[in-house]
Amino acid sequence: MEKLIFPEDFVWGTATASYQVEGAPREGGKCECIWDTFSRKPGAIYGGENGDVACDQYHRYEEDVALMAELSFKSYRFSIAWTRILPEGGTGKVNPEGIAYYRRLCEELRKHNITSCVTLYHWDLPQTLEDKGGWASRSILPAFEEYVKICYKELGDIVDMWITINEPFCVAYLGYLYGAHAPGQRDLQKALAAVHHVNMAHGIAVREHRKAKLKTPIGITWNPETPRPATLKPEDKKAVELSRAFNTEVFMFPCLGKGYPELVTGELGLKFPIENGDMETIAQPIDFIGVNFYSERPVAADENAEFKFTGKPFWQQTTAMGWPITPGGLERQLEWIAEISRDVKFSDGTCKSELPIYITENGCAYEDIVTSEGRVHDKERIEYLQKHLAACANAIKKGVPLKGYYVWSLLDNFEWAFGYSRRFGIIHVDFKTMKRTPKDSAFFMRDTIAGFGEW
Ligand code: FCB
Repeated sequence: MEKLIFPEDFVWGTATASYQVEGAPREGGKCECIWDTFSRKPGAIYGGENGDVACDQYHRYEEDVALMAELSFKSYRFSIAWTRILPEGGTGKVNPEGIAYYRRLCEELRKHNITSCVTLYHWDLPQTLEDKGGWASRSILPAFEEYVKICYKELGDIVDMWITINEPFCVAYLGYLYGAHAPGQRDLQKALAAVHHVNMAHGIAVREHRKAKLKTPIGITWNPETPRPATLKPEDKKAVELSRAFNTEVFMFPCLGKGYPELVTGELGLKFPIENGDMETIAQPIDFIGVNFYSERPVAADENAEFKFTGKPFWQQTTAMGWPITPGGLERQLEWIAEISRDVKFSDGTCKSELPIYITENGCAYEDIVTSEGRVHDKERIEYLQKHLAACANAIKKGVPLKGYYVWSLLDNFEWAFGYSRRFGIIHVDFKTMKRTPKDSAFFMRDTIAGFGEW
């Protein structure tokens, strides 16, 4: 057994997202988002499930905050449902009930000395905006600007840390290229437009945060891919570069002032709908980088593939998602991010020698069962967390400026297209009774936070 050593001020958190936990989609003046619509589409979601009830956090947030406090968490990452704030998108009709809900949640967290880390956009776009073209249309930008300004004005005094967008890759590609997520489209041109508009939305959110003179930090959460080559053949190494450029760098590089990667615009010949001044808008100075990590995969060259690379079989054990368990990949990824975010120059001339990094999500799904004694012995999840935390500790030792770790997720919840069939929580939720049962991994996290974590 080795002890997991983290700095004194390391931020220990846990994460969720509005559509996955809140429920109450038609309460408190809220309107429909794209996930309400998408879940009605036959075959889109496992078992035809939806987020109508989810974990009912909208009504049970006090219980959830008390559980977090009991487990010693210092920070809670959650997202704001755009349709609770501006039910119809960007129409100027602010919903006071929605604002009141998030204020109550933040106040409850403060009462327990837990900071709030708020994601402005975690995939629940107002349906009214999707009807106008969604992320594929530039008309989303003024609507998003209006939305974030209201969030800063109404919640700026009580939120401790802001994240602009969660996983732009999923917004643009899963939503508009692969059709696996809402709004379920498959159109390369729309996906490329979505890439650019999501990047723009991020820049706008940072710009408006500065204009609002908030002192709190603001950053973005990416799910970067740092694939490994399936073999050491030069063509497989090249495939890794292409895949990283297409899946990751198109999102990260413009925000870090490096523009769109040449491999994508040149070699793959893909075009983004850039207008004058856009790249400057995107490259606003951020305060930190959020990273979601679950897995790393081998990639190889494939001339017949649309983007000239393809995934290869792997040997590692998998979680219930079928994702290989690759803690070494997390260490590699953290080192890569530290490297590309060193000496960054933003569009206003600000230079940063390094950017703090937070793991804003890491965790795994397993088929957890509550025993007759009311316990969940999720040994595999503990092992997954131990290995990934060891990777974090190693990265810190190597000089990576990793400042915090948010486990995904606080609760079993609505896992998008997988419905309720995949349990990611460190707290088990009985979806019939809404009963919360902390799993053994929750106690592992509690002890790790207290300084008794081992692996
Ligand atoms: C990430 C999402 C999060 C959750 C995990 C398992 O891609 O950000 O909402 O679904 O995967």
